Formats: sequence, structure tokens, C-alpha cells
Amino acid sequence: MDLNTRLQNVAVIGSAGKMGSGISLLLALELAYRALENKDRTYLLNLIDVHDAALQGLIRYLREQATKDAEKQVSRLRRIYADREDLVENGEMVQEFVHEVLLHVRTGKSLALAKDSTLVFEAAFEKEDLKIGLYQELAALCPPEMFILTNTSSIPLHVLAEAAGISGRIIGYHFYNPPAVQKLLEIITPEVCDPDLQHLAAELAQVLGKQVVPSHDIAGFIGNGHFMRDGLHGLREVERLAQEHGFVKAVYLVDKVSRDWLLRPMGIFQLIDYVGVDVFQLILRVMEKYLQDGLHSPLIDRYLELGVKGGQTSSGAQKDGFLKYDKGRIVGVYDHEHREYVALDEAWIKATDELLGPHPEPKLSWKSLQRDPELDQKLRGFFQKCKESSSPGIELAKAHFLASRETSLRLVQDGVANSAEDVNKVLTLGFFHLYGPVNDYL
Ligand SMILES: NC(=O)c1ccc[n+]([C@@H]2O[C@H](COP(=O)([O-])OP(=O)(O)OC[C@H]3O[C@@H](n4cnc5c(N)ncnc54)[C@H](O)[C@@H]3O)[C@@H](O)[C@H]2O)c1
Repeated sequence: MDLNTRLQNVAVIGSAGKMGSGISLLLALELAYRALENKDRTYLLNLIDVHDAALQGLIRYLREQATKDAEKQVSRLRRIYADREDLVENGEMVQEFVHEVLLHVRTGKSLALAKDSTLVFEAAFEKEDLKIGLYQELAALCPPEMFILTNTSSIPLHVLAEAAGISGRIIGYHFYNPPAVQKLLEIITPEVCDPDLQHLAAELAQVLGKQVVPSHDIAGFIGNGHFMRDGLHGLREVERLAQEHGFVKAVYLVDKVSRDWLLRPMGIFQLIDYVGVDVFQLILRVMEKYLQDGLHSPLIDRYLELGVKGGQTSSGAQKDGFLKYDKGRIVGVYDHEHREYVALDEAWIKATDELLGPHPEPKLSWKSLQRDPELDQKLRGFFQKCKESSSPGIELAKAHFLASRETSLRLVQDGVANSAEDVNKVLTLGFFHLYGPVNDYL
């Protein structure tokens, strides 16, 4: 069965979640264009989730995002609607297209909605038992040729497939957040996987405009294989520095160095907060279950015991976690001993920054280097300066840099990634780093 035929009846499970809604949007747009270009076919997108309110929110999200997308595609719409004399203004075409997008969508709480689907995307919670149960139900309900593309970010595919009795019919389709924007798609092919599914997954990635990085079926894959160990390095550094400077300063310093001195978009604790301290713990647990590699942090457990979870609001703003945020700015650090946030005022920041020593000149930042044509040269110069000097800040940065490289090389050695270039691609595309961790800068 070819891709176009499979796309005629698609389901998304967990469609109202963070990832599910983005995947639903990508598919809804694709199906609408296909419907307009293949008038003899029908296309149906079944969006399934367990909450009515969330499904209503999903429709609102699809309408808003489809409108924005259509406004950028006016020339394409003009071509598509060339024979529609009733549509004259751009706004009319945009409205008509949004109507088309929603025409093919139906929402519901029951899996039965997916009964004729031959392509099912799964983006429900990262819980093994839940996913296995869903796959068993789908296998019983759907046509035998149904394939599942799961967004799991850590659970080995062969474990899910064997437990659900669907070996060969499932592949890891790991979109990055937000799926409609992020170009990276990690495809995890388990050892037993129907060649038609492999072919279809690659073809669809191309249709959706994604850049694929293949990953092997080892818990955490490439993205979390690096992120979890990078986070654990930061947490260990905090425990070490806390002896000398206290916990609050240690969190602030490690976060600052991993952002400003490594020229990353976010410090490691802001990133853990963004993903969610609870999600970070959950993924660590999954990976530790399968890898037994010391992937555990008592500090993460302590934060969660105290109810400090991080995460994002429905509009994408950061919730307080290790750090406290005000309109995206970091304004405090959580002190787990006193169970409160310590506010960061200017004098405190100045005094704490001085503990690091001077930042290498010229002061580069992640933001200033975005799309800089001389990026490589500038990074080379910056890290050469780091190599030649020593200060507490430089030593912290070097240790983090080298730990990240070591993790990446291990991912290749352990057979998670095919090559160092693939790990670099995941970090630059999926995590927006300016440079891949495997390089000759340091
Ligand atoms: N959030 C991320 O940055 C990210 C990135 C990559 C991959 N992932 C993976 O994507 C998946 C979803 O993560 P998320 O962050 O979108 O989670 P989420 O909590 O935002 O969404 C999960 C959705 O699944 C729904 N759900 C739960 N049980 C269900 C059931 N039985 N039937 C139908 N729907 C059900 C929930 O109501 C919710 O809307 C996970 O496997 C996660 O590991 C997440």
C-alpha cells in the first residue's frame, strides 16, 4: 500500500498533547493539500485523546495554525483555487483552505475512531504499559496492514513491539518539540521492521520536510542519550561546587557557564526545567531500566518530592523549576534546603559572576552568532582562548564541553548513533546548538 493510500485514513493517539497537537497539525495540512490535489480520493484524520476539553483546544489550535500557514502559502493557494471564481481576495482563499483542513479532521475519545486507519501516530504519555495497551487494542481493531509510528523518546521499540505482539509493524518516529517547526526527525528502526514501513517512514519524512537522523533501538536513542547524560554532568557539578559556594550559587554558576560560556541557547538547568523535571526523571528511569549505567540523580528526586516540576504553560512559557522565571528571564534559584526561591538581584549576580573569573574576549553569545557566516572561525578563536587560559569559569566550561564530547563518542561506540556527524546533527538541529559536540575546537 503506497503512502498516498495510507494517508487516506490516519489516526493520531494523544493528539491533544504537546507533541500530538504538532503532529496533528503537520498531518492536517498535508491531508488538506492532498485532498485538493486528488479530488477523486477522500482523506480522514482521526484525532484521539482522552479529554474533551483538550480536543476542543486542539481544534482551536489547528484553526489558528492553519490560518497562519495558509497566509504564508497564498501563491500556492492561488494555483490550487485557480478554477474557483468565487474566491477573489487572499483572505477568502485562506478561509477556504482552513475550512478544507478542518473538513478532514474528526476528533474523539475512543480508539474505535482508528478502526480503518492504516497509519497510526502515537504520542501518548511516555509510559510503557500505556503504550503497549494502546498497541494491543489497535492491533485488534485496525486492518492487518496498519503501521504504528511512535513518538516515544526513550523506550526501546522492540520491547513495545514484542509485548504488544506487533513486531515488524512499528517504527520510532521521534519528532522534536514543536513538531511543526523543528526540522529534526530521529527515526528508530527496530531490528524487526517491515521494509515497507521503513520505506514509508523515509518517504513521509521527505514529504513533511524533515531532516532524518537514524538511531538504533537503544533506550534514550541519540537525543535523550546525550541530554540525560549532559544533565547528569551538570547535576554532579552542582554537588561538587555546592561544597564551596552553597547550592544556590552552584546551580546558578553551572547554568550560566553551560549557556554563556558554551554558547548554547539555554543553560542546562533551564533546559531541564523546560522539558520538565518530572519528564527528566521519567526518561532517566526508563534508560536506567534498560542500560543500567548509573542514570540517576538524587537531586532530581528531591526536587520532585518537594513538588518542583518545571515544564511549560499551555502558551509555551516556562514554569518555575530549578530556576524561577519572569517573562522568560531567570530571576531566582530554588533552594531545596529552605524550600524557597532565592531572588537574584544585581549585586548578588555581580558577586557570583566574579567567582568565574573574566569571560574570554570578545564576548560572544549564542544569539549574536546565529546565522553568522564566520561562525566556525569565531568559535575556533573563542575556544582557542579557552584552551590557553585558566579560570574557574573556563575550567567548568571545558569540563562540560569534554563530557558532552565523551557522551557523544560513546553513543557512537555503543551503536546508538551511526556516526559522530549524526550526533552533531541531533544537537545542532534538535537542540539548536551552534556546533556539534564532536569537533576539534578544544
Ligand atoms: N515534550 C517533548 O518535548 C517531547 C519530545 C519528543 C518526544 N516526546 C514524546 O512524545 C510523547 C508525548 O509527549 P508529550 O510531551 O506530548 O506529552 P503530553 O502529556 O503533552 O501529551 C500526551 C497526550 O496523551 C494523551 N493520552 C494519555 N493517555 C491516552 C490514551 N489512553 N489515549 C489517548 N490519548 C491519551 C493525554 O491526554 C495527552 O494529551 C511521549 O512519548 C514523549 O516521550 C516528547
